[in-house]
Amino acid sequence: MSAQDAAGAPMEGVVYLNGRLVPAAEARVSVFDRGFLFGDGVFETVRAYGGRLFMAEAHYARLVRSAAWAGIPLAFDGAGFARILEQTLGDRRDALVRLTVTRGEGPPVPDPAGAGAPTVLAVARPAPEADFERGIALATGPWRVVDAEAKTLSYSSAVVALGEARRRGADEAVRLNPAGEVAEGSVSNLFGVWAGTLATPPRDAGILAGVTRGVVLDLARRAGLCVVERTIRPEALRKAEELFVTSTGWEVMPVAVLDGAPVGGGKPGPVTARLAAMFRDKVKEATGA
Ligand code: PDD
Repeated sequence: MSAQDAAGAPMEGVVYLNGRLVPAAEARVSVFDRGFLFGDGVFETVRAYGGRLFMAEAHYARLVRSAAWAGIPLAFDGAGFARILEQTLGDRRDALVRLTVTRGEGPPVPDPAGAGAPTVLAVARPAPEADFERGIALATGPWRVVDAEAKTLSYSSAVVALGEARRRGADEAVRLNPAGEVAEGSVSNLFGVWAGTLATPPRDAGILAGVTRGVVLDLARRAGLCVVERTIRPEALRKAEELFVTSTGWEVMPVAVLDGAPVGGGKPGPVTARLAAMFRDKVKEATGA
């Protein structure tokens, strides 16, 4: 997969908008919606395998944290969240479904005081094609993470980093925190193996607490792998024995190339392969797919 989010055709089928399923091409949100005006909203993207949601509870828990941080009320509980996603999925089997909640319509000024009821939108798209054996290419650059405390709609800095990485022929960008340490990708978390130890930046490095990252850390610890959450300097990336990214769309995806140079021989390494297999087993156990 080279462009995970280019996959799919969101203008097809139906979307969920404020309690109703409507044809995607007819769905409309106000020009005064604060999601549009200020990126004033939060979102989650959940994966379905064989028509069944994976890790929906963890995604809901993160949505609750994001919405609480933003001060946007959620009008549904975990079961309601799953119902909205399932309705939106319809008969899709392997898909990603994204739920967006904005602060709703309001005057075109940052002050949130005059905002109305939140806008709730859910859109499904086919799951991306992921080529594990090929892996992906990463680019490093000056790109910074801005604010990963919540999964908000404000993705401009990630979009700029990803766009520049794509222009350089890479699939994902490595972003740094204000201290110049490795934080995460533009749409994924980053792991590496050094001297046989699996390492990933800690939460306080300014990363999004990825659901897939959490699953992988849990699997690694249960399997007795040597795993640490620690600061990673950008210079260390070149010396990694293995690198991989995690996300709901990419799952566990090896990094074959870093800034044009092969990583660990350009083939998925043993730790990455083992974790990917454990991840697949967990998916199967949870969804049957
Ligand atoms: N989000 N870091 C960032 C900045 C992300 O945007 C994402 C995924 C991740 C991985 O998180 P998870 O494993 O929960 O998917 C890390 C994409 C854009 C999405 O959810 O659509």
